Amino acid sequence: MASAADYDRAAGALRQPIRISPGGAPDRLDLVRCAALAASSHNTQPWIFRIRAREITIAPDFSRRCPVVDPDDAHLYKSLGCAAENLIHAAAAQGLAAEAAFDPDADAINIGLESAAGTRKSALYHALFKRQCTRTPYDGSPLTRDELDALEQAGDEGCAHTLLLTAKTRIEGVLDYVSRGNESQLTDPAFRKELLHWIRFNPAEALRSGDGLSGRSSGQPALPRWIARRLMGLILTAKRQTQTDIRNIRSSAAVAVIVTARNDRPAWIDAGRACQRLMLRATALDLRSAFINQPVEVPALRPQLESWLDLNGMHALLMLRLGRAPLAPYSLRRPLEQVIVRD
Ligand SMILES: Cc1cc2nc3c(=O)[nH]c(=O)nc-3n(C[C@H](O)[C@H](O)[C@H](O)COP(=O)(O)O)c2cc1C
Repeated sequence: MASAADYDRAAGALRQPIRISPGGAPDRLDLVRCAALAASSHNTQPWIFRIRAREITIAPDFSRRCPVVDPDDAHLYKSLGCAAENLIHAAAAQGLAAEAAFDPDADAINIGLESAAGTRKSALYHALFKRQCTRTPYDGSPLTRDELDALEQAGDEGCAHTLLLTAKTRIEGVLDYVSRGNESQLTDPAFRKELLHWIRFNPAEALRSGDGLSGRSSGQPALPRWIARRLMGLILTAKRQTQTDIRNIRSSAAVAVIVTARNDRPAWIDAGRACQRLMLRATALDLRSAFINQPVEVPALRPQLESWLDLNGMHALLMLRLGRAPLAPYSLRRPLEQVIVRD
């Protein structure tokens, strides 16, 4: 039976710095490994990478959809955007200038790779291996003006922008949306079934699949699946989740909302890229982040949130809390051979 130590070893091995071969030739597999360290909804890793001489494409893997929480696949495409952003920073560390563009006919993100003198590790490169969603309480200390400016600037890509809420009254307002989101989601049997499908209740389960929401990274004790599933009926309630979320959000320094001018696949990819860059920048500043997406996932709540935020026709696509806290155990990823197709 795999232990927590086995789990942590595997999570650590995934996060080794990129290899540069003796001749300096870029290692494309390493680029894919870095891309796949990106955030993805429920850690589904809904991506397929195709490696070509001067291009890597990232296409959706619809077999990993979450039709209940994400019926239009918006989160799925945001996850692809997150992976594209990571790949660009990893490529720079290999001396490659990378440019991403969505090809609507192929339904994929093409990332062109060109050797470019002067392209080197970006400030966000080291953060690729350190970033995580940290779901613990934060220390409550505020962010400095410089930190806020850096985060706002990082969370800007294409038609996506980042709004940062820092005033106590605004953050208290977010609590109401999150608690109504929990009420709607956690009393819906279909939502619960889908969520449970992606939870990995012990290190052995997480290591077997290499995906999903591991109890270890969310601070839950390891349990056999049959016991955990029974307990979930008692533990996974809207009331308990809201109590946890209230404590966590009140301990945070800011709430970030990623907003976009449109609500289509290219905009979802922009939102994913902006969000991943925001999280990388936060990590580089030794800040932590975690998603609180309930208000943008529940269709009845999202328009209310957008009007409360005065978005004037912009779309709220992602929400995160930010602050300071120690790192927690990391999540796992699937083996590269499962995410790469060869021509
Ligand atoms: C589009 C998108 C939506 C997400 N929604 C949530 C969410 O609502 N709640 C949450 O706790 N994490 C959410 N996550 C975070 C993932 O669960 C997380 O990225 C995944 O478990 C891998 O963990 P890591 O980011 O720490 O590597 C989301 C991530 C993405 C990209």
